[in-house]
Amino acid sequence: MNNESQVFVGIDIGTAFIKIIAIQAANNSMNVVGVGVAESKGVNKGMIVDIDQTITDIKAAQADLNKKSQIPMDQVTVGIPTGHLTIEELKGSLKLGDNPREITEEDLRNLVTQILGKHQVLDRDFVGFSSEEFIVDNFDGIHDPFGMMGMSLSIKCLAYSIPKTIFQNIIKAIKGAGFTVRNVVLNPVAIAAVALSGAQREMGTVLIDAGSGETSVNVFQNGCLQVSDTIFEGGKNVTSDISKVLQISNQDAETVKIDYGSLRSQDIPAGESFVIKSLDRVKEIEISDQYLSEIIGARFEQIFDKVKQILVSSSAFNLPGGIIITGGNSALPGTKDQVSKLLEKQITIYVPDQIGVRNQIYTVVYGLIIHTLHISKVQKTLEETLNFNFHEATPSGRQTEQAIESEGDLTSEAEIKVKSKKNKGIMSSLKKWIYNLFE
Ligand SMILES: Nc1ncnc2c1ncn2[C@@H]1O[C@H](COP(=O)(O)OP(=O)(O)OP(=O)(O)O)[C@@H](O)[C@H]1O
Ligand SMILES: [Mg+2]
Repeated sequence: MNNESQVFVGIDIGTAFIKIIAIQAANNSMNVVGVGVAESKGVNKGMIVDIDQTITDIKAAQADLNKKSQIPMDQVTVGIPTGHLTIEELKGSLKLGDNPREITEEDLRNLVTQILGKHQVLDRDFVGFSSEEFIVDNFDGIHDPFGMMGMSLSIKCLAYSIPKTIFQNIIKAIKGAGFTVRNVVLNPVAIAAVALSGAQREMGTVLIDAGSGETSVNVFQNGCLQVSDTIFEGGKNVTSDISKVLQISNQDAETVKIDYGSLRSQDIPAGESFVIKSLDRVKEIEISDQYLSEIIGARFEQIFDKVKQILVSSSAFNLPGGIIITGGNSALPGTKDQVSKLLEKQITIYVPDQIGVRNQIYTVVYGLIIHTLHISKVQKTLEETLNFNFHEATPSGRQTEQAIESEGDLTSEAEIKVKSKKNKGIMSSLKKWIYNLFE
């Protein structure tokens, strides 16, 4: 690494774990120089429910990272979960002048600031922005307008927002732990930066983050996150099912799951078993591996039944990029075959291949930095504008001296296409009894 190297820090506040990563980047090389993880006790279903606890847990993750070597860190990139995410398609137009002139980053900033200002609502915060296309004068299909000559600049983009309280609690926890927020990145956008190729992001791919409290189902196409839906179930529910059915503590159930759990019930030879202590620590109970696998399988069936319905309703089943799954709840042996069977479609499991993060619990935190490092100039300008607005807390605060062409559709609510699909209540009645049994 040369003198120009810089350390980038990412934080993923998950339901089960807080992960923190430090990556040293210089020119075209980069190195993971530290990774830390701590149990997350102040988060439920992806949402912070106890700020003080989360601050303590972030500090514990930082201490874990610093065990090997002290890494100075201040500014951090923070992951944003998809639960309660809304995706809107917005359009805006900026008049540049009566004579053609070169389009600059400042023009794009002004355009985006105006769009954000017009569409800001009281109870939601914008957390991401992605351009689908630019139109310079009457020429559409432009991906990068910088340097082009024109008299007007229009954008068709996707804006991502979450409830203000969820966002503000994330920012508060990060600040409370002593960090400054450098930028925020949606978790699936971070994952896509490492798990999907450019062609997969363009042509269409399903990306599933199988976490602890959430299973997030995302569709990328035309380079953007087009659909995102969240099932509020994951590895935590698997553990809690094991705890309830075997009548053991949650902690023992987690150990049993990691040590003996699998999704290979059909392939496990009869007679394979293990012994655990009962809740009162007196009796010893013998459990067959097959029985454990059936308990785990029931929850997976329930979760992926919902995933299937989301994919059907989003017409995302046959996208050329296929279905990629990552996140800690995809780590059980047999997950690939069993989930492929449940979805009736071959899936691929993504595990980061970088030294230090070869475990799918680190996919998001690793992707946060890779996304930040590889971002295009256009996307960087969009995100910087968003970050400027959120730091200043004045979404429409930036004054532009240029006129904004009010395109009618810029202000009309009817033109805002809410793309996120809320599939509440899609639980199949057939599986309902399993849910009731375990909850
Ligand atoms: N080797 C493993 N085998 C089985 N399950 C595992 C394994 N490793 C991690 N898990 C499970 O994965 C989950 C943690 O994964 P991850 O870190 O992706 O979730 P999270 O980011 O904390 O949660 P969320 O994204 O839902 O907020 C836990 O439920 C844990 O039990
Ligand atoms: Mg997660």
